[in-house]
Amino acid sequence: MRLGVLISGRGSNLQALIDAACDPAYPAEVALVISNKPDAAGLDRARAAGIATLVLKPKDFADKAAHEAAMTAALERAGVGLVCLAGYMRLLSPVFVTAWHDRLINIHPSLLPAFPGLDTHAKAIDTGVRFHGCTVHFVRVEMDTGPIIVQAAVPVADDDTPDRLAARVLTQEHKAYPLAVRLIAEGRVSVEGNRVAVRGGAV
Ligand code: GRF
Repeated sequence: MRLGVLISGRGSNLQALIDAACDPAYPAEVALVISNKPDAAGLDRARAAGIATLVLKPKDFADKAAHEAAMTAALERAGVGLVCLAGYMRLLSPVFVTAWHDRLINIHPSLLPAFPGLDTHAKAIDTGVRFHGCTVHFVRVEMDTGPIIVQAAVPVADDDTPDRLAARVLTQEHKAYPLAVRLIAEGRVSVEGNRVAVRGGAV
């Protein structure tokens, strides 16, 4: 399965997908990386791996619809079957989300539906939850919602800081994202309403 990965920054989850795809048995490959920011570090990761990159700056387009239409055109040209948001920091319109229905996934650094939005690690600490983590989910129109494919939890330590907690969650993200993509690429994932069923179990 050919993946299109949308990024805005560091690209460590992109790297996890690139690394997973180095295994010839892995059923997906990163075909195209699109960034809305020309200086996203993830672009260098893609180039280093010989993967096609594209920078599409929103301000170079008449409006959001035109920007997203250019993304969809490029993804289709690259033969992408699954779009992975990996630290893509722009909200996608209902038109884009609908066009890629059940072919668009996101990784979010919390155990959704807890802590949608930004600053999830500080929110988890301030709320006093004992477990935090990450979620890979199909994207729906409302931000950080959609059927959940994979979650991974980490305990919150009494003296945790947002940075320390973020680092432990990130380690889990780098396993959860390649796992979710593999399950989809193997055709084992079906979506029924809010719920995802994984044939043969998740791991
Ligand atoms: C990750 O924490 C991801 O969960 C969130 O944005 C961050 C992106 O990090 N959506 P990276 O660019 O993949 O390193």
